[in-house]
Amino acid sequence: MARILLVDDEPSILSVLSALLKAEGYEVVPALGGDKAKGVLASEEFDLMISDIRMSPVNGMELLKIAHDDRPTMSVIMLTAYGSVETAIEALKLGAFDYVTKPFKVDELLITVQRALEYNKALSENADLKAQLGTKYHLENIVAESAVMQNVCDMIKRVAPTDTTILIYGESGTGKELVAKAIHTQSRRKEKKFLAVNCAALPEPLLESEMFGHTKGAFTGATVNKEGLFEAASGGTIFLDEIGAMPMSIQGKLLRVLQEKEVRRVGSNENIAIDARVLAATNTRLEQLMQEGKFREDLYYRLSVIPIEIKPLRERIEDILPLVYHVLRKESPPGTTPPTLDTEVCAILESYTWPGNVRELENAIKHAITFAKDNKITKDVLPPKIAATPAKSASTSPLSDLDASKCKSLKAFIRAKEKEYLQQVLSHTGGDKEEAAKALKISLATLYRKLPEAQE
Ligand SMILES: Nc1ncnc2c1ncn2[C@@H]1O[C@H](COP(=O)(O)OP(=O)(O)OP(=O)(O)O)[C@@H](O)[C@H]1O
Ligand SMILES: [Mg+2]
Repeated sequence: MARILLVDDEPSILSVLSALLKAEGYEVVPALGGDKAKGVLASEEFDLMISDIRMSPVNGMELLKIAHDDRPTMSVIMLTAYGSVETAIEALKLGAFDYVTKPFKVDELLITVQRALEYNKALSENADLKAQLGTKYHLENIVAESAVMQNVCDMIKRVAPTDTTILIYGESGTGKELVAKAIHTQSRRKEKKFLAVNCAALPEPLLESEMFGHTKGAFTGATVNKEGLFEAASGGTIFLDEIGAMPMSIQGKLLRVLQEKEVRRVGSNENIAIDARVLAATNTRLEQLMQEGKFREDLYYRLSVIPIEIKPLRERIEDILPLVYHVLRKESPPGTTPPTLDTEVCAILESYTWPGNVRELENAIKHAITFAKDNKITKDVLPPKIAATPAKSASTSPLSDLDASKCKSLKAFIRAKEKEYLQQVLSHTGGDKEEAAKALKISLATLYRKLPEAQE
């Protein structure tokens, strides 16, 4: 039975909530006020803490910090007064699982509690698994060698179980849609639809009817009633791509939909309840659009509850070669050996600035595979623009960079080189891990530990 620590300085809320949670079969320990809770937290273990934020002398944020530092396996849900969303966001940044606004709807609270506990369970199972394999957390299909991409993966994992709106920012081709899909597939909505709409691709009236639906006769050409994507994605996720391009009039309507959780089809007076999680992406900074008067401030705050930023590839060079090997493996027919890269090619690929990011890298490698001779990718089969890039020698030799502050630690360098070699061997064996392990004279478990992505 899950144990819940319940903290509020209002006795009435404490007793109502306590009764409600007990009726659901949870073991509840109520604490009247933050200082009481602090004492209980120091001596007892809980699966979940539900805490009010505004209390004195010890407030919910302080409890959250204690929980974060001393009780890493306990989830925390914060209760906030309507209108203090900024504090709630601060709480999410400090590691709270989610927040519920007071006055709360019972169903909403119970679902959040259930999800927090499921998340908690998944985390401890994952910790066991990690301990067994000794590997870093790795999300399927997302190559994340760099610390910044590993952060993105951690964020995906943390936000997936919640229903919070996420705003994904990244230059073109950095993997925004991939991240959005990963959030969907890691969420409880994974069996339901993931529907994407590109806000830049449709003219205003079409975009509106695409998103919200329309009734027969609403406009010329509307010959039948049609449901919009918000309705169609019910139970699942709707991905609003290039949201920066959304016309102002539709932004207002979207804001209402997000607040009311209801849509009104174009031409109708009837509200239809919807349950679609909203993920949005943009390659233009919305802050800038807001300043130019092209994006509503209220919508911006509503959407960007949790922002995820994907850095351009040139700022995460460690990801380049792993992505190249990933594409080589993906593009090689099963049973064949993926082509190999020579050192010069590796250096060029790491030196090029990749303005089109991962999408450009994928295209470049597909191009190179087509022209590769003897199953080898050499400089002359790279797209000419890329082949013309002078290779920075620093990427192949740490000694050429004599700036000591920029040197990698020896351990980090050896690890990176080891990884590169493992990936090459794996690429030689056509992705056959057992064969690769045999060739390397290491066990399969060691291969997995050293190269978590091999487990895909
Ligand atoms: N970290 C990654 N690991 C593996 N594949 C990736 C990664 N990042 C991006 N990709 C691949 O690169 C391609 C482009 O990604 P995606 O379409 O998600 O980018 P995007 O940011 O939505 O691009 P755009 O701005 O052009 O819409 C896809 O084929 C995707 O699978
Ligand atoms: Mg995209």
